[in-house]
Amino acid sequence: MSKPRFYVTTAIAYPNGRPHMGHAYEAIATDVIARFKRLDGFDVRFLTGTDEHGLKIDQAARAAGKPPKAYVDEMVAPFQSLHESLGISFDRFIRTTDDDHKALVQALWQRMAANGDLYLGRYEGWYSVRDEAYYDEGELVTGEDGGKLSPNGAPVEWTLEESWFFKLSAYQDKLLALYESHPEYIQPTSRFNEMRAFVAGGLSDLSISRTSFTWGIPVPGDERHVMYVWLDALANYLTGAVATGRGSLDGEWWPADLHVVGKDVVRFHAVYWPAFLMSAGIALPKTVFGHGFLLNRGEKMSKSLGNVVDPAAMVDRFGVDRLRWFLCREVAFGEDGSYSDEAIVERTNADLANGIGNLAQRSLSMVAKNLGGVMPVRGEAGETELRLKEAFLSGSEAYFTAMNALALHKALDALMAMVAAANGYFAENAPWALAKTDVARMAEVLAATLDATRRIVILAQPFMPGSTAQLLDQLGVAADARDFNGFNMPVNAGTQLPAPAGVFPRITLEG
Ligand code: MSP
Repeated sequence: MSKPRFYVTTAIAYPNGRPHMGHAYEAIATDVIARFKRLDGFDVRFLTGTDEHGLKIDQAARAAGKPPKAYVDEMVAPFQSLHESLGISFDRFIRTTDDDHKALVQALWQRMAANGDLYLGRYEGWYSVRDEAYYDEGELVTGEDGGKLSPNGAPVEWTLEESWFFKLSAYQDKLLALYESHPEYIQPTSRFNEMRAFVAGGLSDLSISRTSFTWGIPVPGDERHVMYVWLDALANYLTGAVATGRGSLDGEWWPADLHVVGKDVVRFHAVYWPAFLMSAGIALPKTVFGHGFLLNRGEKMSKSLGNVVDPAAMVDRFGVDRLRWFLCREVAFGEDGSYSDEAIVERTNADLANGIGNLAQRSLSMVAKNLGGVMPVRGEAGETELRLKEAFLSGSEAYFTAMNALALHKALDALMAMVAAANGYFAENAPWALAKTDVARMAEVLAATLDATRRIVILAQPFMPGSTAQLLDQLGVAADARDFNGFNMPVNAGTQLPAPAGVFPRITLEG
């Protein structure tokens, strides 16, 4: 039987600066979901990349004194190497300057035009280059100096130019009907409510081309215009749905199951994107999940505050799996969250060194020392084993429910409850004391502890791919028994285990 498919994407980042922790966070969370789905038996396609056209990139290239293409070619490198150091298991890193993408966006435009949804007019209104977004007067806020700012606090400028428009206003009812029939389309619920209220408030037609600069995809049939960067950018998900060959509007992976994006760009994905697709007669993605913002010690990361942290340096300092664990465990997925060196040290020492690492290390080293490293036979389940089993049944069920609901932090709560139950079982049965009094019972306790550890490590894989692979090696788990099908397949008694080595040493703030 063929596997069910799952197509997941991140937002594509603007390469007008170096990647920051917000980019790392989004890539990690999406990677966790992709890995979870693979272990759960899905055939997964995972798309990520960079958003390289538009005025913001054009201006950044000018400031750097480079032609825009040369500029983005240079700027994309740290994004690609960050993905590597974060262990992001993407299938394609798309760049919107890729040829197949340009061809696809032009085909998309033509389909929207053929449907009668595009017309030529004049745009007169506010535009924010930083947000790459048009705003109505009523949406603007007043800055500290009395100037007008976008709702994201970005400067806006009055813009007046000839433009192609998309009849977004004609899609208000269709969008409201979509939200009504598919409330799962926008998650979490707080963002759903926000978007529904926004659309219910009325939609103006959308300017989708510009003539005052040239760094973009030309409008087919009217090459004085380049396309609005968000039309170009959103279409990356369609381009990426084609696994081989040139961009086709009927990519075999479409529709996407999940677009993971930050809360500041939910509007584009929840309003503009489905409207463009409806216009072109293309199926809609199933879910847009808007995650929260990552804050540095509770403060917004910004160049002016000087608190923009290089995620690659964090990987060097803490190790990739500690960083991945921390971000998914500490930040409620969907809400804003904060990081600091202290919190990372404290959290990972508690969960990984004292929790999972300790459990594995203590049981594995006792097996090595007392049983020649041979996996012992499990005994008849007594009262403590039954309690452990209960805790694991409810813990694993909570884990799967949370993962399927994209509540990554809740899945880790459930996993840590399993760790506590396993450590409790170990302490209660005190196998180190049994070593002197009842070696057969000690072996049973170690067998049960190792099996509990194996289950925990299997479920931890999406979060910490590297260290869990090492632990599964030490636990003697065969390569083909590591997915969720293998969850109920204990390691055979008699299996010779390799010499154990600590995987999660304690760390200190001093490094
Ligand atoms: N290029 C657009 C997205 C186009 S998607 C078709 C963009 N780029 S971005 O580089 O500004 O942001 C990329 C992603 O990172 C977005 O989902 C954004 O919300 C997210 N984040 C940017 N700063 C963030 C934090 N501080 N915390 C968490 N995510 C943040 O928007």
